[in-house]
Amino acid sequence: DMTFLKLSICCLEERYAFLTEWYDPTAALLRRYQLFYYPKDSSVEMFDVKNQRIFLRRTKYEDLHQEDLFVGNRVNVFSRQLNLIEYGDQYTANKLGSKKERTLAVIKPDVITKIGDVLELIYSSNLIVTKAKMVTLTWKQAADFYVEHQSKPFFNNLVQFVSSGPVVAMELMGDEAMSTWRRLLGPADSAVARKEAPQSIRAQFGTDGIKNVGHGSDSFAAAARELEFFFPSTIGHGPSNTAILTDCTCCIIKTHAISEGLTGKILNSISAAGFEISALQMFNVDRANAEEFYEVYKGVVAEYPSMVTELCSGPCMVLEIHGTDVPQSFRELCGPVDPEISRHLRPTTLRALYGKDKVKNAVHCTDMPEDGVLEVQYFFKILDW
Ligand code: CDP
Ligand code: MG
Repeated sequence: DMTFLKLSICCLEERYAFLTEWYDPTAALLRRYQLFYYPKDSSVEMFDVKNQRIFLRRTKYEDLHQEDLFVGNRVNVFSRQLNLIEYGDQYTANKLGSKKERTLAVIKPDVITKIGDVLELIYSSNLIVTKAKMVTLTWKQAADFYVEHQSKPFFNNLVQFVSSGPVVAMELMGDEAMSTWRRLLGPADSAVARKEAPQSIRAQFGTDGIKNVGHGSDSFAAAARELEFFFPSTIGHGPSNTAILTDCTCCIIKTHAISEGLTGKILNSISAAGFEISALQMFNVDRANAEEFYEVYKGVVAEYPSMVTELCSGPCMVLEIHGTDVPQSFRELCGPVDPEISRHLRPTTLRALYGKDKVKNAVHCTDMPEDGVLEVQYFFKILDW
């Protein structure tokens, strides 16, 4: 690609290059762009591959961070979600690509209520969660997942346990994600873990050899197969979400809170307040869906456009909170919309603790009790078809 070569040669300034794909909903097709990032002044530039022309002139864009730039990740540039599909040059591959991996982590049914604690440990190890979904596996799905163990004496008990209640499957990404997550988990037997790796997750939260908190892929091949099992990229849909869709309210952990690493803390606060999280999933909401979801605020709330932009600026995590009259009681846990006001009036609420301003206020929660089911359906029935 000559244009690309010329661009590379003329730039002496440090620059990272990627080949990216953007799904254009209006034309219903995938468009390819080269994305250039200049760390010196945090600016970006985009080049339209098909039409061979500049698409976005070099522009300052401080919402993109160098640590988000690696193949396989999805980044947001001026409200467009770009999939980073290849390194654009050897320099970028060497500098940013060397050790980035993705792996599958599963939180098993024994500790599903401790998901916040587990996420805290994941974030403190510099891994990020790029996909997450709560599912309940059928016996057959669990047996397929653990097919490598089918001749082991513990196979039946293992499959029975893993299909006995909800699990949370996650894609973790980061430097040496696979070994980092397995090291965090510790030895398979929780008793052994308490002796040999007392700081490990299994030592802290595990019960025995079978109720041992989590699963982690043990090879690149396993990670690829297991990620495909829960998050299929081609055909099929993978295991279904656990949404109940009655007596519920919708909570969205907003994208800014996710990228600030607050997910674990927020989930912990929700559990500590006694709320039941009956479904959980991360979504990459596009602009059209964000507009539709926030439709009721359009023309009513001055922040509507910024709310839309916030919701589609990266992955968010959507929860179904289940219980009687839960829309009202959960709103009280969230606190007033403006975190400044929350900090004065209700300092222990989620927005007081984790919010920044009226748009970046950590969580969305359903306003009207009668909308709880509808909002939950929007994510767990319509977007997760
Ligand atoms: O999960 P990990 O890869 O660390 O261990 P594994 O040896 O691949 O075993 C898979 C799972 O089977 C473990 O996490 C345990 O839940 C279960 N297991 C068991 O119940 N009894 C054993 N003797 C070994 C494993
Ligand atoms: Mg294993």
